[in-house]
Amino acid sequence: MEINVNNSNKNSLLLNTINNIKTNKTPVWLMRQAGRYLPEYQKLRKEAGSFLNLCLNPELAKEITLQPIRRYNFDAAIVFSDILTIPMACNRNLRFIENRGPVLNPIKKAEEIINLKISHYEYLEPIYKTLSLVKKNLEKEKALIGFVGAPFTIALYMIEGESSNNYKKSILFFKENKQLFILLLNKLERMIANHIIKQIESGAEIIQIFESHAEIALNNYFTEFCINPVKNIIIKVKQKYPNIPIIGFPRNANKFYINYAKLVNLDCISIDQHVNINWAINNIKFSKNKKLCIQGNLNPNLLLKNEKEITENINKILIAFSKTNHIFNLGHGVLKETPIDHVKLLVETIRNFKI
Ligand code: CP3
Repeated sequence: MEINVNNSNKNSLLLNTINNIKTNKTPVWLMRQAGRYLPEYQKLRKEAGSFLNLCLNPELAKEITLQPIRRYNFDAAIVFSDILTIPMACNRNLRFIENRGPVLNPIKKAEEIINLKISHYEYLEPIYKTLSLVKKNLEKEKALIGFVGAPFTIALYMIEGESSNNYKKSILFFKENKQLFILLLNKLERMIANHIIKQIESGAEIIQIFESHAEIALNNYFTEFCINPVKNIIIKVKQKYPNIPIIGFPRNANKFYINYAKLVNLDCISIDQHVNINWAINNIKFSKNKKLCIQGNLNPNLLLKNEKEITENINKILIAFSKTNHIFNLGHGVLKETPIDHVKLLVETIRNFKI
């Protein structure tokens, strides 16, 4: 069944920008805009007992999604959840350990990939419920963003069993068991495409796909592991919902951002802080002959610096992008040490910018 997801009646700065409709302001939202730097988040998290309890409780997740919108008036809300809910729903025993991050049962045997399937929809259903609750409570001018991790990024966590600096175990695995690794990517590709479709049907108006560790696939495996699976996911989603914009974020893809933009049918590409803006404007212009919007790319560490450094660097980005459609964001997520006033300063600087 097709659900009516026509957003054309919305006058949203972010949707207009991404759809190439001329606007006179730059929209802004931040990756990890809801989270530990916010005292109101800390309070709810303490009450809930854990991060996963928050993700699994739609009423609390809705509140947390809306907290940064109330405080800063961002142009978009991103549903509060995590990319690792997919392996969690596959029964990989996801836990979040304080000062260590996510931990899952690492994949060790071929059978674990061959038999992999979503067996616990009750871990995904709260996300759809949260989206529909947020949608009811969000002003019409704000866009609602759903998200997923890309297959390669999720596969790395599933094989490694936790975050890593070098993903050595995973690299060894895909070099020695390439066909099995591709089978894992194929399976994740189908789950993730369905997860996106369900998020759209629950109210998501934009989807962001996080490929957080593209550098692990560079250079030799990038097309096969990062480009092709995401390309296939987008074909599947666009067949059903062609008008829902998709933002791709192949973090640390370096010069391979060019190929990613060319080959994946994105509406917007998010760039990390290592990408030179002028290089990006000149080289990652089009996706499938369509003008591509660029999102990014303030270094999250700059939000820890003084007022002068912060405003100078924001203005530099705004000036560089002044002739092209651009969504202001960071090069990666907000750091938990970020002073709340600095985020306020960021939003004010962007709102007050005039070329
Ligand atoms: O952007 C948002 O505000 C939406 C929420 C969001 C979270 N995770 C909440 C979260 C999003 C978009 C994600 C995506 C995510 N999760 C990614 C891709 C983006 C990236 O960071 O590269 C990845 C790799 C994950 C997996 C994950 N989840 C890790 C590695 C960690 C630990 C890192 C850390 O900062 O501690 C998490 C935990 C997590 N996900 C937190 C939040 C708010 C911190 C939870 C807490 O301790 O309260």
